[in-house]
Amino acid sequence: MADEELETDTYDVVIVGSGIAGMATALALQPNLNIALINKGPLKECSTYKAQGGMAVAVGADDSPVEHLADTLRVGQGLCNKQAVEILVSEGPQTLTFLQSIGADFDKGENGLNLTREAGHSRNRIVHYFDYTGRHIAETMARETETRDNIHRLDNCVLIDILTGAQKCCGCVIQYNGCFKVLRAGVVVVATGGYSGLFARSTNSISSSGDGIAAAYRAGAAITDMEFVQFHPTTFTTLSGKVFLLTEALRGEGAVLLNHQGERFMFSYHPNGELAPRDEVSRAIFHEMKRESQEFVYLDARQLGKDYLANRFRQVYSELAKNDLFMEKDLIPIAPAAHYTIGGIQTDLWGRTTIANLYACGEAAATGVHGANRLASNSLLEGIVFGRRVAKTINQESSKPVSNCLLFSAVKQVGKYQQATEVGAALERVAGVIRRGRDMEAFLTELQQSAVMQGKPLADSKDYHDFNACQLAELLLEAALFRCESRGTHYREEYPQKNDHEFKKHIIQQWGKKAVMQ
Ligand code: SIN
Repeated sequence: MADEELETDTYDVVIVGSGIAGMATALALQPNLNIALINKGPLKECSTYKAQGGMAVAVGADDSPVEHLADTLRVGQGLCNKQAVEILVSEGPQTLTFLQSIGADFDKGENGLNLTREAGHSRNRIVHYFDYTGRHIAETMARETETRDNIHRLDNCVLIDILTGAQKCCGCVIQYNGCFKVLRAGVVVVATGGYSGLFARSTNSISSSGDGIAAAYRAGAAITDMEFVQFHPTTFTTLSGKVFLLTEALRGEGAVLLNHQGERFMFSYHPNGELAPRDEVSRAIFHEMKRESQEFVYLDARQLGKDYLANRFRQVYSELAKNDLFMEKDLIPIAPAAHYTIGGIQTDLWGRTTIANLYACGEAAATGVHGANRLASNSLLEGIVFGRRVAKTINQESSKPVSNCLLFSAVKQVGKYQQATEVGAALERVAGVIRRGRDMEAFLTELQQSAVMQGKPLADSKDYHDFNACQLAELLLEAALFRCESRGTHYREEYPQKNDHEFKKHIIQQWGKKAVMQ
């Protein structure tokens, strides 16, 4: 299908995704640029909005970006890009100032900001707004975008494909109200978030389905670190079957983990107990559940008392109360769930991908700041720091929409694919906290065999949702099978050790090419 057949709009910059990274980019772009800020669904569905804990920033009296750097690198297990982390931590304080300048507020303590602790941090360095920091930041930024005349929010639009011509990105295809539409642009920024929402048990909404990563892959961009999916240790399943996050700040402020015998078990797995890095805590919980043949362990926050819990953790408290659980007296059943995807579209330190005029930031991007395991509360910071860097680069290099660009539209693609829900159930089984090569191989073969059978045209965003799920699962499994070691969030039962000699490298995947380690 030629793009001429589709309705077409033209912008200077199209930002796909309006979570923290997309909005940070939009707000830092020059006011003379005509910007489309695309969102897939309501603000409350995006991962930024759901973030409870807060944002890590080295502003405490006993802290500095050097300590924040050291913690991030240690938790990242040898795969962080040190330069990217230096940027992240050193730009933390100014990021906080930026948020405050547009009206964001953070909880105060006796000596200024109330800084909390989360797992893996050696200092109290998380700024927060009660236990709904992400929602507060997202609403503040959304209000600010509405004051800008040059930012046009396009609601309920699904990214279908990224368009390229003459080896440059020149726009994208979206679906809106059942119709495909071309958005021509000088620059496209992918800020669509990660793909953890594909897993059957996830703290993300199903709209966190990696659309931007899959589209960038089809357009030829390099993708990296796809095997690293972070599992949040403490999630609760509500009476209606939804997975609800219980922020790590609860453990940071004194809650502990108990097994079914009522024993605290974390110290037999890690010297830092409940404050061990997130991958260690998730694995310890998983082992304990297996050892006791149970589906969950318990979070015990009783010692914090009702007044403290109901005020400081008001969102969690009220959600649990709706489920007839009261943290001051009840043990809360919890289990790990998919939470954050570290891998994504490979970028440089300015958010440039391997395709000219295509940028990525936030969870969709792999900047290298998280290595093999993300330090808690570094992601809101990353979204703003790198979103603003993308904007800075576009402001300097801004290219106008290419009018004679030959658009390759993938809208008429044909694919054979499984339903995303089936893929999610299989990922949960084979690519969860503990992975086994033979299970992953079996599911990968199943996906690949279905792909070579004759398929059907991708007709709408639901088809793309399923198709993307299959492509992303293949990328994840291929990378996870390639990495024959255990590191950070990726744990292979048959290779339980880290193997720096062979695997202290990143896996890069690109359409039509064999995966390579670099
Ligand atoms: C949490 O509040 O535990 C989530 C924070 C994060 O994912 O960084």
